[in-house]
Amino acid sequence: MEIARTIAEMRQQRSRASRIGFVPTMGFLHEGHLSLVRRAKQDCGAAAVSIFVNPTQFGPQEDFGRYPRDLERDLKLLAEEGVDLVFIPAVEEMYRPGEATTVDVGPIASLLEGAARPGHFRGVATVVCKLLNIVQPTRCYFGQKDWQQTIVVRTMARDLDLPAEIVVCPTRREPDGLAMSSRNVYLKDDERVAATQLYRSLKAAALTFQAGETSAQTLCRLVREGIAGEPKIALEYVRISHPQTVEDLAVVDVPGAVMSLAARLGATRLIDNVVLDQPVT
Ligand code: PAJ
Repeated sequence: MEIARTIAEMRQQRSRASRIGFVPTMGFLHEGHLSLVRRAKQDCGAAAVSIFVNPTQFGPQEDFGRYPRDLERDLKLLAEEGVDLVFIPAVEEMYRPGEATTVDVGPIASLLEGAARPGHFRGVATVVCKLLNIVQPTRCYFGQKDWQQTIVVRTMARDLDLPAEIVVCPTRREPDGLAMSSRNVYLKDDERVAATQLYRSLKAAALTFQAGETSAQTLCRLVREGIAGEPKIALEYVRISHPQTVEDLAVVDVPGAVMSLAARLGATRLIDNVVLDQPVT
């Protein structure tokens, strides 16, 4: 496994493979990340992973400083997966003095997560655009867990004619349903137990939809009520969105509509989502 710390090294190492699948990450890897890595390796024969906690996608009051990091463990996991190339740039390598260009994908970046985290998707789109230009992968892999991020990235790739194919892979969950996330380590024991109510509520809404209920208001109320029974969870939002425009739906009448939520458990902010017309387990 080759490790590149500069853009020049990364470009040089990259040129050795013709096809390469790329998984951008912020590290502190778990099975969710590794499922993307396996898919990249399987599809493309060679896999590259970046580990970069991107400061520009964190708000001033957010957890950039305390975001969990364990590079040694990450590298061990990636080596076990047979990853070919890892890119670990320093912040100064990715953002040089005087850089002023950013990527703005338009209205979808200011809805849902974008409304709750102003500037977040500008940071994501800009860093993913830079990484795609550095790595020039055949395909680039993202998780459904961060659903709106997948829309932002797909929109950017389409509008800026980026050649990489964007592939979205299913959300990996703990046995009790909690979506895997690097931020789950922040949860205290009682919060970790309470957190299972997030997916349980989403699942109940999906099953209710699949039984014939199409009112977004009714389905969202069901989630709110489910979560209200768990005092450790402060729900920020629950919405049902159009799968391409991310706009709110009043009636769930488009295939692939997504119900998503964000919630706080103590100091930890978690997100999750379900595609309402897909089987839930
Ligand atoms: P990070 O949160 O590290 O996630 C890296 C990739 O792993 C993302 O595509 C994310 O959706 C995916 N992922 C996270 N949890 C998952 C789960 N439980 N199941 C499946 N996939 C999961 O997302 C980012 O980093 C950053 O915004 C990044 C794209 C790297 C840009 O900085």
